[in-house]
Order: sequence, then structure tokens, then C-alpha cells
Amino acid sequence: MSLGWKLYWLLVAATLAVYGALVLWVGPKIADLSSGGAAFDYFMLGYSHAEAKEFLAALTPEGAAFYLGPAMWLDTVFPAMLALVLGIGCWWLLCERPLILRLGAALIAAGYALFDYLENAAIVRMLTSQADTLSAELVAGASRFTVLKFFFFDAAITVLIVLLIARAIWRLFGAAPAVQFTVAIDGPAAAGKGTISRVLAKEFRFAYLDTGLLYRAVGVRALAAGGTDAATAEAEARALEPGDLTRDDLRSPEASAAASEVAVHEGVRATLIEFQRKFARRDGGAVLDGRDIGTVICPDAEIKLFITATPEVRAARRHAELQASGVDITLDEVLADVEARDARDRNRAEAPLVAAEDAVVIDTSSLSIKEAVAAAAALVAEALARRG
Ligand code: DC
Repeated sequence: MSLGWKLYWLLVAATLAVYGALVLWVGPKIADLSSGGAAFDYFMLGYSHAEAKEFLAALTPEGAAFYLGPAMWLDTVFPAMLALVLGIGCWWLLCERPLILRLGAALIAAGYALFDYLENAAIVRMLTSQADTLSAELVAGASRFTVLKFFFFDAAITVLIVLLIARAIWRLFGAAPAVQFTVAIDGPAAAGKGTISRVLAKEFRFAYLDTGLLYRAVGVRALAAGGTDAATAEAEARALEPGDLTRDDLRSPEASAAASEVAVHEGVRATLIEFQRKFARRDGGAVLDGRDIGTVICPDAEIKLFITATPEVRAARRHAELQASGVDITLDEVLADVEARDARDRNRAEAPLVAAEDAVVIDTSSLSIKEAVAAAAALVAEALARRG
């Protein structure tokens, strides 16, 4: 789960906690202190002048003080948090749709918080004035804000539910996979290919193959067998087994270097080609990421993307990843490793790293993951639509 989603669920949990506090702590307290007027704004939806007067008159001074103190504080924080939860939820569910739709959905949730605030402000004015001198306009205004608040709340919840259902239907039946449809994604190390490929595969329900893993597995096997020379590496490529692709040391710096070394050998590449081509043409569509997918493995891919970024940006990303997984390495070392692999991958005679002529280049240096994914998804959706 990405950091963004973790923070989102934390916000959802915090919102539920504040709601729990409102119900469990504030509710009974107001009920006691105001002789039955619990949860003022829940029960007074659309209240009349007389009803508001009755409630306010029933409040003891302690009840009013509590209502204006901790209760009002919680009752202001909760709608603000709920509006954030609803707004961000709608925003993300619409992340590949036009900005105007995302803004619209988020603003509906914000409307709920705004009218709750206005309603609370009106209640404060009522409670700080004398209940028997309340003006009819003040009560009517507060009542209107209550109605509007519930209207926006209902609308925000409805939008969220509709979006969730629409997304579930889309996932189940949408983007009916073409019988054969290949998304070829190439680019240098740590440019964001892997992340983009995984999201695209999930979104469009295509199978996904990280072809770098094949070379990493061959590299690791070759190291164990004595070296990354052509003969050893080719023998290990032929002996590759499915279990080799799930080893947990395939992302280590040693495996990265070994992968890049074995990848220069023609025999290794020829051994792996058939498997990759078969994978690419499987029924239901496939996303493959690597260095030569658009140029050598699938020159006829329906859509080719070349994902790139500056070496410095890529090194910083890989460095953060390695540190998060406990590998002790400096940024300079990672940069040197990235540049060495780039040079080897670009300058080798066999299937060098190069953008296919018909590939769309996406430079992710200054893009967020979300922006890069959205750009790639739009291109795949276009290609699918062209394909009909
Ligand atoms: O994508 P990656 O970093 O996991 O790839 C590891 C190495 O494998 C990379 O340095 C070059 C090589 N490779 C390749 O030559 N062709 C591919 N299609 C994929 C990876």
C-alpha cells in the first residue's frame, strides 16, 4: 500500500475515533445537562423557532458551557475530517478523469463542512444570546444551514457510493480485454516503469511480466555458478525455473549489476526471448516492462511507452527504496551504479536500451507517480479504443 493510502486510512480511523467521542462522550453529557436535548443538530434538523427556543431554554448554564466548549470543538473537527475523507476518496476514485469532475466531487464534500461551520456559528450566537430574545431570522438561518449541511452530506455520500459501484463494475466488466493486446514499456532503471506497469496491468486487467526479473534471476544463478561470462550465463538461463523469479535477493545491488552483465550476452537474450513473446501474446492482454520490449521482443505491440527520468532523479528514488529495505548504501554509490548500468544497457551490441521509433516517451523526472500513471493510462485507453 502506498504512503498516500496509508495516510488516508489513518485519517478514516481518526475520523471514526472523533465520531465515537462525539457519540459516547458528548451525547450523554448534553442529554443529562439539557434535560433531553441530546445531539442538538441531529435532532433539530429543520427545527422551528419554537423548538429552538425550547431547546435553548432547557439548557442549564453548564450544558450551554459544555456545548460551546468541548462539544462544539469536536462537532467542528468531525465534519471537517469527514469532508476530507469524502473529498479525498472522491478525488482518488476519479483520479484518471478530468480535473473538473474531481474538483466538483471534492467541493460537494467541502460544502458539507462549510454549512456545518455556518450552522455551528449560528448556534453559538443563539446560545450566547438570551433564548427568549432569539430573533426568528437567526433561528430560520441556522435551520437553513442545517438543511443545507445534510443536503451536501447526503450528496457527498451518494457521489462516493456511485463512484465505488462504478469502479467495481468497471473492474469486473469494463475494459473487456482484447484477445491479444500488448503494452510494451521500456526505459532505464528506476524511471518508474515497474510502478506504471503494475498499475496499468491492474487497471486494464492485463497480465504483467517484469522482464528485468528474468535477467536478475539469471544473474544471481550465474554468480552462484561462478561468474557472469557468456557460457555460464547462457547455461543458467537455460536452467531457469519459475522458483528463481521469486527469490528475495533479486533486488539487491549485486543482483542488479549481475543482471546487467548477463544481459549483454546474445545467448542469454535468445534463450529468454521465446518465453517473453509467448507471454506478450497471451489471451487477455499483457504488459511487459524491460529494455527491449518495444524494439526486439514485441515490435508489433499495440502501444509502446518509453519511461525515462534524469540519472539523478532515478538514483534518488532507488536510494530511497534500498534504504527502506535496509540496504546500507550512499546516494553517490547508487548514482554510480545507475550510470554504469545505463552505459552498459545502452551501449551493448545486443538489443541495446533505446526508445522504439513509435514509442511515446514519458519523462517522469518532475511528475508524481499519479501523474505518470495517469498519462500512461490515457495512452493505453486511447490505443484500446483505436483497436475497437
Ligand atoms: O528492469 P531491471 O532494473 O530489473 O533490469 C535489470 C537488468 O536487466 C538491466 O540492467 C538490464 C537487463 N534487462 C535487459 O537487458 N532487458 C530487459 N528486457 C530487461 C532487463
